[in-house]
Amino acid sequence: MTDSESTRIREFAARLTGADSSAWAATFAQVPRHHFVPSFYTMTGDGWKEVKNGDPEYLDGVYADTALTTQTDDKGIPNSSSSEPSLMLAMLDALNVQPGNSVFELGTGTGYNAALLCARLGDENVVSVDVDDELVGAARDRLARLGYSPTLAAGDGAAGYPGKAPYDRLIATARLRFIPRAFLEQSADGAVMVVPLGFGVARLTVTGTTEAHGHFMPLPAHFMPRRVESMAPRFAELETQEARPTTVNVADVLERLSFPMSLAMPDYTSCTWVDDDGTPSALGLWTGDGSTATATMTGKVRQIGPRRLWDELEQLAITFQDADGVSREDFGVTVTPNGQRVWYGAENGPSWALPAE
Ligand SMILES: C[S@@+](CC[C@H](N)C(=O)[O-])C[C@H]1O[C@@H](n2cnc3c(N)ncnc32)[C@H](O)[C@@H]1O
Repeated sequence: MTDSESTRIREFAARLTGADSSAWAATFAQVPRHHFVPSFYTMTGDGWKEVKNGDPEYLDGVYADTALTTQTDDKGIPNSSSSEPSLMLAMLDALNVQPGNSVFELGTGTGYNAALLCARLGDENVVSVDVDDELVGAARDRLARLGYSPTLAAGDGAAGYPGKAPYDRLIATARLRFIPRAFLEQSADGAVMVVPLGFGVARLTVTGTTEAHGHFMPLPAHFMPRRVESMAPRFAELETQEARPTTVNVADVLERLSFPMSLAMPDYTSCTWVDDDGTPSALGLWTGDGSTATATMTGKVRQIGPRRLWDELEQLAITFQDADGVSREDFGVTVTPNGQRVWYGAENGPSWALPAE
């Protein structure tokens, strides 16, 4: 490692962990992010540009507190990244690891988070799974070059990794739509789980292997979704549907209700159409089961599919009509053998069922 790299890492870890006394401070100073992110992509007017180690802007980029896109799919949509370091730290802090704890991670990505876990807990206690076998191979090499050999596997992390269960701690670094049943089954009694759900991160404690209860952390989080089969929006079919009026302020919706929407419709995607002068004219909304809705800024709604997404949104608008702002900490998650729900305010408050697996 060059002197300039060592200085960067020390300064980066101090900046990241300085204000609080995180038990992870020494670990962030020890594990070089640049080793796991030898290049990343930035969006320019001409599309994605790769920034490589050695490029003038590389070290500033890799030691900034930002998420870095490390891979895109064939449509140019990012499908792997090194997460924002302060968010990684907050999630690791929330995991509250104790010496000797075993940890399962969904989403190996670059291997950086797995390396931090290995440095803290020993690689015999770390298991990490990514759906992309090439990423797993690259992460394995990078980890090995620093002397770490956790258990890595390629596959859907929602199935956990039964071979090394039970786990004391479980962390996901891809956005989930529900708590995978395997996470509970492979948890030790009292295990702690820190998982992105919707546009937030939930911290749950497991009781036995069938129940978990927890709250959302205050921080916003926009993780890339766990990769699953999903349907494209059905905008063309909507053209033939009769429009109905809506009283919900379309412009306000995505802004104010985006977090509760991300829980009530955990895999929703949205888009906006704009006029020639750049003024938004309509909003599109869809979920992976093919449910699709559009609403014009003048309040005309069309919807199709198994779920009536705009009807659900109108219900949310009623539930949150008196809330000035929506705080993530006011939401919680309850998992029982009968199902999973996210709730607002209290377990018996307004709640939304999470989809079954
Ligand atoms: C934000 S990145 C992970 C960052 C990683 N923890 C790191 O430190 O670099 C999210 C990762 O989740 C992975 N992923 C998406 N769907 C998955 C699934 N079903 N099972 C396991 N991993 C998945 C992606 O391939 C991607 O690498």
